[in-house]
Amino acid sequence: MGMLEGKVALVTGAGGGIGREIALAMALAGAQVVVNDVGASLSGLGETSATPGEQTRAIIEQRGGRAVVSTDSVADWEAARRMVATALDAFGRLDVVVNNAGILRDQIFHKMTPEEWLSVINVHLNGSFFVSRAAADVFRRQSAGAYVHMTSTSGLIGNLGQANYSAAKLGIAALSKSIALDMGRFGVRSNCIAPFAWSRMTSSIPAETDAHKARVAKLQAMGPEKNAPLAVFLASDAAAHVTGQIFAARHNEVFVFNHPRPVRGVHRSEGWTPETLAEHGMPALSGHFAPLDRSPDVFSWDPV
Ligand code: NAI
Repeated sequence: MGMLEGKVALVTGAGGGIGREIALAMALAGAQVVVNDVGASLSGLGETSATPGEQTRAIIEQRGGRAVVSTDSVADWEAARRMVATALDAFGRLDVVVNNAGILRDQIFHKMTPEEWLSVINVHLNGSFFVSRAAADVFRRQSAGAYVHMTSTSGLIGNLGQANYSAAKLGIAALSKSIALDMGRFGVRSNCIAPFAWSRMTSSIPAETDAHKARVAKLQAMGPEKNAPLAVFLASDAAAHVTGQIFAARHNEVFVFNHPRPVRGVHRSEGWTPETLAEHGMPALSGHFAPLDRSPDVFSWDPV
């Protein structure tokens, strides 16, 4: 028996990349799946299409699974509510929400437009809220449910040219932790995955320098399917005590991120003035850290 037998999963952005692999893996684990995707371009601009979602459904059905397609956008509250209604209409319940849909509008910060900022925040952060919130009523009624949200090392660490995306992705990590606290009383869990995969999204990374090219080569070896087992596990009852956590899946490695907590402190019994902070406080504290002068090299970084 599969680990998600009898469960219903809604996977957003499941028409391609990581979302499709998660939807396929969840169906293989026994879940009935709502395959959501607007079929957007990478930037979210231009025409949308039902084809990517239909293709995912076709694969699930060829393998003997059950799926329905939703072409609603996560970036709209009413559409998010329709998505949840689709699950209830088709399968009578909803047990798992995977917030995976996303777009990119990369831009160096001093040139980033309000539109570039808002569109990315809207799909990633607002979209994760809308879909999670729409499902919360069902989860509460059922006294059970699992959220799996896609965050990113771009947010957890920072990245060049991605202020909009980084802010949204760290926001999603915060959203997940607060959902875990608020919904724990109803038996609902919420966790994040920072995935790594060669996909439409990462194939847009510019590779100008040798260091960039080496990084892209490593990423090319990481198929989106490598992230799916962790998502299935987190959605399943086998993860019954796992909540409020941030995991990363990097090829054959899985790791958990350190919980943010103060790393160093200084105490002054008289209290602080700006001058004493400048003399004794902050340099001593922040000197601990190397300046972040480049895109964090998450591939050479040792998680252990
Ligand atoms: P992708 O571009 O292949 O897939 C994203 C999917 O979301 C597309 O099928 C697109 O049509 C859909 N989508 C876009 N806007 C939507 C909307 N408003 N409503 C519904 N669907 C929408 O990207 P990929 O790489 O598979 O990324 C999946 C998730 O993983 C994203 O949240 C991304 O930020 C995250 N991620 C990916 C990483 C990677 O290495 N590929 C690294 C870190 C995070």
